[in-house]
Amino acid sequence: MSIADPMDLIAWRQGEAHVEGVALSRIAQAHGTPTYVYSRAQLVRAYRDLARALDGLNGMICYAVKANGNLAVVRSFAELGAGADVVSVGEMKRALQAGIPAGRIVFAGVGKTRDEIDAAIDAGIHQFNVESEDELKTLSAAAAARGQRAAVALRVNPDVDAGTHEKITTGRKENKFGIDIARAPAIAALAARLPGIAFTGLALHIGSQLTTIKPYRQAFARLAELTQALRARGIAVERLDLGGGIGIAYQPGPVIDLKEYATAVAETVGNLGCSLVFEPGRALVGNAGLLLTRVIRVKEGDARRFLVVDAAMNDLVRPALYGAFHAIRPVLEPAPGEAEAPVDVVGPICESSDLFAAQRPLPPVVADELLAILSCGAYGFVMASTYNLRPLPAEVMVDGDRFALVRPRQSYDDMLGADRLPEWMTAPGTGTAVRPRARGAA
Ligand code: LLP
Repeated sequence: MSIADPMDLIAWRQGEAHVEGVALSRIAQAHGTPTYVYSRAQLVRAYRDLARALDGLNGMICYAVKANGNLAVVRSFAELGAGADVVSVGEMKRALQAGIPAGRIVFAGVGKTRDEIDAAIDAGIHQFNVESEDELKTLSAAAAARGQRAAVALRVNPDVDAGTHEKITTGRKENKFGIDIARAPAIAALAARLPGIAFTGLALHIGSQLTTIKPYRQAFARLAELTQALRARGIAVERLDLGGGIGIAYQPGPVIDLKEYATAVAETVGNLGCSLVFEPGRALVGNAGLLLTRVIRVKEGDARRFLVVDAAMNDLVRPALYGAFHAIRPVLEPAPGEAEAPVDVVGPICESSDLFAAQRPLPPVVADELLAILSCGAYGFVMASTYNLRPLPAEVMVDGDRFALVRPRQSYDDMLGADRLPEWMTAPGTGTAVRPRARGAA
C-alpha cells in the first residue's frame, strides 16, 4: 500500500545508502551535489497502488504536475496511462511534451489569464475547473469566439477544514479557492446557459498533505448533496473532480489508507453515475525522491553543532516555508550502536530560515560526507529558485542498476547570462556605453 516510511526509498548495501541498485555516492560522483534523486520503481509503485485502490470507480488519475514537473517524471506517469492536472500553460505544455493526450488534461487554478485560456482551448483539453463567475464568462467568450464549447467543472469551496498546514489548506470559506458552495447552483445555472460553456460537473480540492479521511468524507458528501440539488433543478452533472491532497509519511507513522479513501469515495459519490477525476500529486512522487547533499563543514557553535551542507533553502524551501519535517540520513551507514547527537543541518544562505533540521539526532558526520534529505520528490525541485545566485540543482532518475541525468545542474552561464544591461549603461570594464546611441537619436 502507500509508503509508510520515507526510509523505504533507500536500502543499505556495502555500508552505504542505495536507491534501487545505485549507490548514492556514484550519483554524487557523476553529477555533483546538491542533486535530486528519483526512483522510477517507487513512482511506478505509487501510481499502481493508487490505480489499484481506485479500480472500479470509473475514475481518471490526473497527476498534479505541480508536485514534480520533471519531464522524465511526468513521462513515467504518461507511460502508465495517467492524465494530468495542470495550473498553468507551462504545466500544460509539459504534460503534452511528456505524451499525455490533451483529452486527459484538466486545467485548474484561480487565476487563469485570457492567454492561458485561449491556449488550453486550442490544445483541446478535457476540462476547465472554473473558480469564479468572472472566469466562467471569460472562458465562454473565448470558446464562443472559436465556435466551441469548453467543458467545465465548477470548483466549489465546501467549507471543510482539511486539518493540514494553514498554508496548504484550500477548502475553507476564507480561502481564495473555488466558488462558495451556496452560490454554486446559481453559477451552475449560468454555466448551463452560456454559449461557450458545456457544463459537465463539479470539482473540489480541500488541501494538501491530508492524513485523515474525515475531511474527505465531509467534502465529498457536500459534493453529492450539491449534485442532487443541481439535478433537481434540471442541470445535468456528469463529472466530479475530487482533487488531490492524499498525504505521505514524512516520518514513520499512519497515513491515509488508499482502500479507505476509495471506500469514502464510493460511499459518498459512488452511486451518482458520474465519471470521476482524481488529482494526486504528492502521493505519487513525494516519497520517491530525495535530495542528495554534501557536508561542506562541521561548525561548532557555542550552544550547537551545525552541519553546513551544500543544499540550501533555494533548492528545497519546504522547511523554511512551512516548517516542514524531512528525515535526514547520512549516506554512509553508521556503525552499529553509534550514538546519535543533536545537530542543526543548515545551508549556506544568508538567512536563519535556511535550516533543514534543528537539533536533529544524527550519528557523527564529518566534512565531505553525503547526506540524503528524504521525502523530497514532491514540491522540491519545482519550488527551487536561484536565490543567492545559486544555480538550480541537478535531477537524476534511477531505474534498477542504471541512472540518468534528467536535468543537468544549471550552469553559471545560463544563470548569469540571462540578464541584460540597458543600452544606456556603461559596459563593465570599458566605461563606454553598452551600445552607442545612433547620432541624433533621442
Ligand atoms: N489539485 C489542486 C487543485 C491543487 O491545488 C493541488 C495542490 C493538487 C491537486 C495536488 O495536491 P497534492 O495531491 O499534491 O496534495 N507546496 C506545498 C503543497 C501545495 C499544494 C498546492 N495544491 C507543499 O510543499 O507542501
